[in-house]
Amino acid sequence: MKPLRIALTKGRLENDTVALLEKIGYDCSAVKNKGRKLILPLGDNMEVVLAKAADVITYVEHGVCDLGVVGKDTIMEHGSSFYEVLDLGFGKCRFALAAPKGCDFWNGYSSRTIATKYPNVARNYFAKKAMDVQVIKIEGSVELAPLLGLSDAIVDIVETGTTLKENGLEVIDTVQNISARMIVNAASLKLRKKEIEELVERMENALKEEKNG
Ligand code: PRP
Repeated sequence: MKPLRIALTKGRLENDTVALLEKIGYDCSAVKNKGRKLILPLGDNMEVVLAKAADVITYVEHGVCDLGVVGKDTIMEHGSSFYEVLDLGFGKCRFALAAPKGCDFWNGYSSRTIATKYPNVARNYFAKKAMDVQVIKIEGSVELAPLLGLSDAIVDIVETGTTLKENGLEVIDTVQNISARMIVNAASLKLRKKEIEELVERMENALKEEKNG
């Protein structure tokens, strides 16, 4: 049978994911010494693909990867036509609405401008509050937008809060708590149910063990 293929988000989530795979007994040496290689063997029956978060979702949605590890932030922005089967507990951060310190964001009637890397998340958040806002998409360092006078506030990921603090911004509201999730292609879950369920269960047990010390 073909190896199960799992897409991992490169960067911030990579080390924690590899540590978890090692904990459940996979030899991750090929992933750790990857060089520029993008498809890597994981033991005898799995294959790892390293990709950007949004691409992890694309590969799993199209079924070219059976499984994926990706942040809830990316899932919320892109929507889900796959199964989200496990909260991995790492990659913890939150989506927050933030604005220049001391500004009274909620006061007044003029339409607000929001800069964000996550326009769908921002629109949904303000739609729930029945607030009409203009959303401007920024690709990175979103904190710059209010400093430059492009937006009144941002919807962005806050982890330690250092970036906000060092740029004179503060959280006004938490939109959603975020962590890494395991996702599964719908067809794969039917066709390779046993293998996938076993893998998820092993991960779940390892996470529980870690939690209980
Ligand atoms: C993320 C986020 C914030 C920062 C928050 O950016 O967009 O800018 O991390 O982290 P902190 O609360 O610990 O300071 P990232 O580093 O992923 O890059 P980007 O700004 O280019 O999107």
